[in-house]
Amino acid sequence: MPKSLEQDNSFYGKDFITVNGLKRADIDYIFRRADLMKGIDDTKQTWDVLKNHAVPIIFFEPSTRTFLSFCAAATRLGANVHPMPDMPAFSSVAKGESFTDTIKAVENATSARAIVLRHHDEDSSKTAARVAEAPVINGGSGQAEHPTQALLDLYTIQESLGRIDGLKIALVGDLKYGRTVKSLASLAATIGENNQLFFVSAEQLRFPQKFLDTLPDDVQYEETSNLESVIRDVDVVYMTRTQKERFSLEEQDLYETLSTQLTLTREMAETMQFQSIIMHPLPRTRELRYGVDENPRAVYFKQMTNGLYIRMALLESIMIEQPRKEARRRTKNK
Ligand code: NCD
Repeated sequence: MPKSLEQDNSFYGKDFITVNGLKRADIDYIFRRADLMKGIDDTKQTWDVLKNHAVPIIFFEPSTRTFLSFCAAATRLGANVHPMPDMPAFSSVAKGESFTDTIKAVENATSARAIVLRHHDEDSSKTAARVAEAPVINGGSGQAEHPTQALLDLYTIQESLGRIDGLKIALVGDLKYGRTVKSLASLAATIGENNQLFFVSAEQLRFPQKFLDTLPDDVQYEETSNLESVIRDVDVVYMTRTQKERFSLEEQDLYETLSTQLTLTREMAETMQFQSIIMHPLPRTRELRYGVDENPRAVYFKQMTNGLYIRMALLESIMIEQPRKEARRRTKNK
């Protein structure tokens, strides 16, 4: 007997704070729901499956894409969205309220069904999940994790290359402080089969050993500081910016030096394999030239739209136990 959608939904009622522990079936499930969300978006339908579900979206760090994407995803599904884009300035955090009290306030004041959180502390989502009854979704935790970004990245890889296995993936830039690269490396290593990873960074910006130790033993990876040595071979080049805000004041000179060391130019991008893609979580600073945008391999703007579908899928799966097999095609936007 075919397994029903309800049985496949392992996300219901759970926090989503890390990619660790996800199974291939979970990824398949979320990708299927994201496909369905894309269908809803393509036909400009509304689907109010989250009607009367309060979703506070509280960000302690700057954001354009992730913040708007969560707001848009929850709104498209009919939720009551409570956006707080600058918690340090506009919440009682400015009056000295503790993080745990803030989380309780956010939950109780809105009667939250899920809380979306971005915070500079690595353990923020875990701490919030401990004090909140409602599931917590990690929208970026310090230098450690950005699990929804990794989902949308992998979804974009699947969409562009038709597979998430047997790929050569170069993660380029600030691997030390960047969180997107950590979550994507983990996901590509644990979910995909036979992926070969290339960690391309300046010496000073390599993945911390502590992170490398979390990767599965059998994962194949190479560390290098030379992008040109791998660019012709790989299926995916995933660029990232040097994380200026993670450098101390005294280190700003170092930032200036490191941030220009690995730059993808239009000419370099043209040497890539015909069937390969260029990704970037964005925002970009110095590492990705604007000229690359015209290269048909560039998919970074598509990543953002996929982020909307993935976050719709995730919000739905966390808050609705038994999703309808298909979105009901009832109301149309006029
Ligand atoms: C990233 C982040 O916040 O980690 N942005 C994003 O969410 N798309 C990448 C970055 O800030 O460099």
